[in-house]
Amino acid sequence: MGVFKTGYVQLRVTDLDAAVNYYGNVLGLVETGREDGKVYFKCWDEHDHHSIIIRQADGPGLDQFGFKTESPEDLAVFEKKLEAKGIKVSRTSAGEKLGQGEAISFEDRGGHRVEIYYKMQKVGNGLPLDNPDPYPPNLKGIAAPRLDHLLITSPNAAEDLEFYRDVFGFRLTEQVVDPTGAPIAVWMERSHTPHDLAIIPGKPGGFHHVAFYVENWTEIGRAADILAMNNVKIDAGPTRHGITRGHTIYFFDPFGNRNETFTGGYVPDIDNPPITWTLDKFWTGVFYWDRTEQGSFTEVYT
Ligand SMILES: [Fe+2]
Repeated sequence: MGVFKTGYVQLRVTDLDAAVNYYGNVLGLVETGREDGKVYFKCWDEHDHHSIIIRQADGPGLDQFGFKTESPEDLAVFEKKLEAKGIKVSRTSAGEKLGQGEAISFEDRGGHRVEIYYKMQKVGNGLPLDNPDPYPPNLKGIAAPRLDHLLITSPNAAEDLEFYRDVFGFRLTEQVVDPTGAPIAVWMERSHTPHDLAIIPGKPGGFHHVAFYVENWTEIGRAADILAMNNVKIDAGPTRHGITRGHTIYFFDPFGNRNETFTGGYVPDIDNPPITWTLDKFWTGVFYWDRTEQGSFTEVYT
C-alpha cells in the first residue's frame, strides 16, 4: 500500500519546439504523446506512458508532479487523510488525462499541485520481456533510464515534512537543521533511495530541479560532454553531494528549469535513523568536494 515513487513532473516551457529538441534529443527522453499544448515523455527504461510532461506557457516553472501508488484503494485512503487536514481534494476520471487512470489532486502546504494516481498506460521500455538485450539500440543523447527525484522550495520545510510523513508515510533520510535543531531542508523517500522528494527553503510553489538517474560516474561525465556539445548551460558539477552521497551534474533547460543527472547514493532501510547536517556544513552537504556554493544554487530557481 502507499506511494512507491515520484512518477511524473510537469514543467512549463516557453517554446515547445525548442523544448522537444532539448528533452528529446539532448536529454534523450522518449516522446509518447501530444495533447492540448503538452508533450509527454518517458525515460527509456520506464514502462509507464510518461514521467515528464512539458506544457507551452508564458514562463518556466513547475505545474505539478505525481506520485504513483501501489493499490487502487490508496486514492480513497489519501483523500480521507487530506480532507481530515482541511485540504481540498479534486478527482480526475480515467481517460481525462492522456495515458493516466483515475487520480486525486491537491495543493500541498508549500503551494505545489500534487497528483496521486494508481494506473498509467504501459508502453514498454523498448525491449522484449522475453530474453531482452541490456538496452535498446536507438537511444539518443544522455538517455537516462529513469526519473529519480524532485527538489522543490517552500517557506516551511519542517511543516512539509510533518505533512508528507503524516499523509503519505514518507521517511526522512537527511535534514539540514538550524542552530535550534529545527529542520530547514529535508530529504524524504518511499522508494528505498536517498530521496524521492526534497524540500529546501524558498518561495511557495517553487521548483528547484528534477533529477534523472544514470548508471554510474562515467555516465555523469558523458552527460557533461553531451551538454557541452549542445551548448547547454551547466550550473554545477560534475561533483559529489555530501547529502545523499550521490554524484551529480546540474544544468538548465533552454527556459531556466534546472535539471540534474544523478547516480550513486545508498539504499536506506525503512528504519534507518535520519542523517543531520548542521547549517555551518550546509555547502559540504550540497557540494562535498568544493565545500562552497557552485553556480547560483540556492538563489536561482523557477
Ligand atoms: Fe537532486
